[in-house]
Amino acid sequence: MNVLVLGSGGREHAVISSFIKSKLVNKIYALPGNGGTSTIATNIQGDVNDFKKIKEEVISNNISLVFVGPEDPIVNGIYDFFKSDNSLKKIKIIAPSKLAGRLEGSKEFAKKFMERYNIPTAKHGTFTRDNIDQAYMFLDNMSSPYVLKADGLAAGKGVLILHDLEEAKQELRSMIFDKKFGESSSKVVIEEFLDGIELSCFVLTDGNNYKILPFAKDYKKIGEADTGLNTGGMGAISPVVFLDDVFLEKIEKLIIKPTINGIMKENMEYMGIVFIGLIKVNEDPYVIEYNVRMGDPETEVVFPRIENDLLELFNSMGSTEFANIDLIVDERHAATVIMVSGGYPINYEKNKVIRGLENITDSIVFHAGTKKDNNVFLTNGGRVLAITSLAKNYKQAIGLSYKQIEKISFEKAYFRKDIGFDL
Ligand code: AMP
Ligand code: GLY
Repeated sequence: MNVLVLGSGGREHAVISSFIKSKLVNKIYALPGNGGTSTIATNIQGDVNDFKKIKEEVISNNISLVFVGPEDPIVNGIYDFFKSDNSLKKIKIIAPSKLAGRLEGSKEFAKKFMERYNIPTAKHGTFTRDNIDQAYMFLDNMSSPYVLKADGLAAGKGVLILHDLEEAKQELRSMIFDKKFGESSSKVVIEEFLDGIELSCFVLTDGNNYKILPFAKDYKKIGEADTGLNTGGMGAISPVVFLDDVFLEKIEKLIIKPTINGIMKENMEYMGIVFIGLIKVNEDPYVIEYNVRMGDPETEVVFPRIENDLLELFNSMGSTEFANIDLIVDERHAATVIMVSGGYPINYEKNKVIRGLENITDSIVFHAGTKKDNNVFLTNGGRVLAITSLAKNYKQAIGLSYKQIEKISFEKAYFRKDIGFDL
């Protein structure tokens, strides 16, 4: 079969690297892809939100499965676009519906969903310019730190954690009145701060059955010891060493099952991944957020550990076969370290020559922000490369990645040297 993967990050390179091994695969296309995907698939120029263009490419390249990497096209309704089009409706699209996409696209929607199914999450209130006075009262009655979240998508930047009450009120005003995060912050969710350690849970579901993929932990902050600004992710590890059977059972019973039941009960039409951002507070799990796609860089440690034919697995979704496939997971630990352009996540330069990739022996290099120009790889984004290694334990895996990174260079490259420091 011919497959199209939408997106251009390390996640998409990792997905294609798994699909390429499938017994079902004929040709793989990436739209728009990156320098790495161009070496194992055919890149098609275009925008993941240009559904008309995607339709043309699906038809002209005889695509039978589309894997949607990023959240934007999902939240914009790519699933519904396919299902309402006569020439596309039979094509398998791995993405949830626009309605289900609101679990990621609106923090308020996600919170209300969790309330309906008694899913543990931080106490919260939702506010707009119309009830700003109630928002101040809500803050007055909370204790520091204060968590403010833009309701809509803000590319991972829409969450502020503030220690001072007056500053929290000021930031609230700036979100609501000055549109600090654009329209997405015209509505703000204020939350109780949860103190604990985070982990990422990925559940594959077709709305009838579900499978829990390997858990992972990502490192979001730019600076060592989790300091500084939030990024798309600076590294990840799978499995999560503090996840034991008792804690997993709690997560499945209190969070995964009610989430999948809710999705079914509300006829959300889900054909894809539920990414549950969790936090462990004492011995209990709470939901920090839902996403409706795989995580990046989590995919770069989760997919290499899955030994099944992943294209076959995704292709089986929606049929009885899906329930019959047992996941086979590599026992080894995977770690990935992200090399970024200096200055990321604020200002950074592009088009720097990347050297040394051909010398990497014991790790996998997934490309994120790269492009290929006359057989030379150039930087083309903030997050540039994900260096993934597998080993007997996470410390060895991280060590392997750091050893390989020494062989790679580009001007102003930066990476965190403490991935896994908190475990
Ligand atoms: P989100 O976009 O909702 O995942 O939030 C981004 C990051 O902010 C999370 O990964 C957490 O580190 C932090 N965060 C969000 N909500 C809370 C909360 N209620 N308590 C503590 N930290 C939070
Ligand atoms: N690594 C977190 C995310 O993909 O949103």
